[in-house]
Amino acid sequence: MALTPRFPAFLHGGDYNPDQWLKYPEVLEEDIRLMQAAKVNCVSVGIFAWAALEPVEGEYDFAWLDRVIDRLWAAGIRVDLATPSGARPAWIAQKYPEVLRVDEYFRRHHFGGRHNHCLTSPVYREKVRAIDTALAERYASHPAVILWHLSNEYSGDCRCPLCQEKFREYLRRRYGSLEALNEHWWTGFWSMKYTDWSQVESPSPIGQDANPAMWVDWRRFSTQQCKDFILMEKAAVHSVNPELPVTANLMQRFWDYDYFDLAEAIDVVSWDSYPLWGSGNDLVQASEHAMTHDLMRSLKGQNFLLMESTPSQVNWHAVNRMKKPGMHLLSSMLPLAHGADSVMYFQWRKGRGGSEMFHGAVVGHDGTADTRTFREVRSVGEALEKLAPLYATEKKQARVCILYDWQNLWALDYAQFARKGDMRYTETVNAHYRAFWQAGVSVDFRDCRACTDLSPYSLVIAPMLFMTHGGIEEKLNSFVRGGGTLVMTYCAGMIGEDGLAWQGRTPHGLTETLGIHALELDALFDGDANTLIRERDQWRLTRLCEVIEADTAQVLGRYGSDYYAGQPCLTVNACGAGKAYYLAAEPEEAFLHRFYGELIREMGIPKAIGSQLPDGVVAQERGGAVFLMNFAPSSGDVLLDHPCRDLLTDRTLSGKITMNPLEVLVLEKV
Ligand code: GLA
Ligand code: ZN
Repeated sequence: MALTPRFPAFLHGGDYNPDQWLKYPEVLEEDIRLMQAAKVNCVSVGIFAWAALEPVEGEYDFAWLDRVIDRLWAAGIRVDLATPSGARPAWIAQKYPEVLRVDEYFRRHHFGGRHNHCLTSPVYREKVRAIDTALAERYASHPAVILWHLSNEYSGDCRCPLCQEKFREYLRRRYGSLEALNEHWWTGFWSMKYTDWSQVESPSPIGQDANPAMWVDWRRFSTQQCKDFILMEKAAVHSVNPELPVTANLMQRFWDYDYFDLAEAIDVVSWDSYPLWGSGNDLVQASEHAMTHDLMRSLKGQNFLLMESTPSQVNWHAVNRMKKPGMHLLSSMLPLAHGADSVMYFQWRKGRGGSEMFHGAVVGHDGTADTRTFREVRSVGEALEKLAPLYATEKKQARVCILYDWQNLWALDYAQFARKGDMRYTETVNAHYRAFWQAGVSVDFRDCRACTDLSPYSLVIAPMLFMTHGGIEEKLNSFVRGGGTLVMTYCAGMIGEDGLAWQGRTPHGLTETLGIHALELDALFDGDANTLIRERDQWRLTRLCEVIEADTAQVLGRYGSDYYAGQPCLTVNACGAGKAYYLAAEPEEAFLHRFYGELIREMGIPKAIGSQLPDGVVAQERGGAVFLMNFAPSSGDVLLDHPCRDLLTDRTLSGKITMNPLEVLVLEKV
């Protein structure tokens, strides 16, 4: 399925800010020439252009945007047109202070920055709706415009009186009565009981700071506020042309909103990926971003767009390394391998001022095409042309699914227990993911929502599923009974959706399937370790060790030391037609590679390349082609399963091949 039906092709381009250059018409002219030279076919325009589009309240200036879009169209360059709601003009902040955000200390912010607005404010919503509608009326039928880029990286929350009222409304809907709220929030603790709805306000470090259930509800509410705002923007642009898809650019390791939920509001998922290349271990960087690519693909179960990446370096790290020669092509192929239908950048041209004036761009302050960055960008454009047959193709249905659940993430981060504030849910999920990714196995992600369907999978991994909700227990039980293989790990099924501890044996609702029950959750100090002893091998355990009892499960590994030495640490239980493993402690990563390697073999889970890959070389299948990528600083040999043609160089390869550092091949069977 083409994500941008008006222009069904891999998109190559990036954030373009002509609104910053209106006094330099020669630069704008030159941009078009340079874009063509860089093989750019699509740019995101107008992202922060509100002040240029509506310099005075109610007076729109579209003349400059008309010229830009027409010139781009004449040059064959498409437009991903943004709504400007990511930053507001000074006049709106001055005239309507209610649009300014109130932070967690209940301080109203002053004008400045971006994402500094209230998503509840009726004035803000009305102004955004009006300009979005005006943009749509003017451009939604322009043939150059292929996609709506709603706002920019929606994030954060506001605690103004309007938001407080909305929060209370949300809670009323969710819990029905104040009594139920008190019960679910367990307000008997520390005399927190509410006797009137007006007493309820958002959590804050200087107020209600210590109630994890309340914090999780605040995150759910913030997600709903943002989703509702997105739906408002979408309705505005769709009021003119409902056919033009909308996207919102999402972020990596994003914590504020539940992206599975938010993604329901948009047609196309896109995201901004900025790996820290050259910071030590590029393979680890790549694996984290590969995981997010798969997560983004999983949000809607369809391909996604890489909306931003840097062509060279960013400017917001403490140390901003340049990409080494060759890294740009390699790093641009990684998202493609995972289902991206674009390679887009932040930013097209470096501004002359502002905080991002030294952020990497396709065109630097020298204004020429004669730079390494520009040449490497062009080579990505060429690569995308060669890969045209792969456009809109999808990855084969994955057989492995990892649960990654935002509500669980919040619950683990807010809970005060074990390794307080250091539970590392995302890192843990990534460690499990990496074992599959490095083996060349495709992985999908799902969460606990009611619509989650596990039936396409044969192996489901649920790391650290502390909060069980949405009926996930029953789904996992029937998945196993029906022949699936389940892997769960420590601190599973301890609390429910409302944050209240499950009573009775845990993991809640899963003890029969797993054949174990949990007794104690021990946390280790940094530097301390235990051992997982299996029949033939031993592995280091750190951080979190759960003491469990095997009921019907077979014990595959035991603890090597401490007061629980000899007690089960790894178990498997036969249940119905399937089986369920339980890993009670946090193992060194090598164990996960071994353990999942054994499962992959045993279950016959397909890999992109049959033979063992050297360290640092990864393989991913997409559209029948295999992307082979070397993220190691050294070369490595790969034994190909069949003679293949590399789509990037048109070479035919067979047998044992050597992958140089940073080399990438896109192989099709011949
Ligand atoms: C984000 C934003 C961009 C820009 C880049 C810089 O992804 O969306 O506007 O600030 O970061 O890397
Ligand atoms: Zn607000």
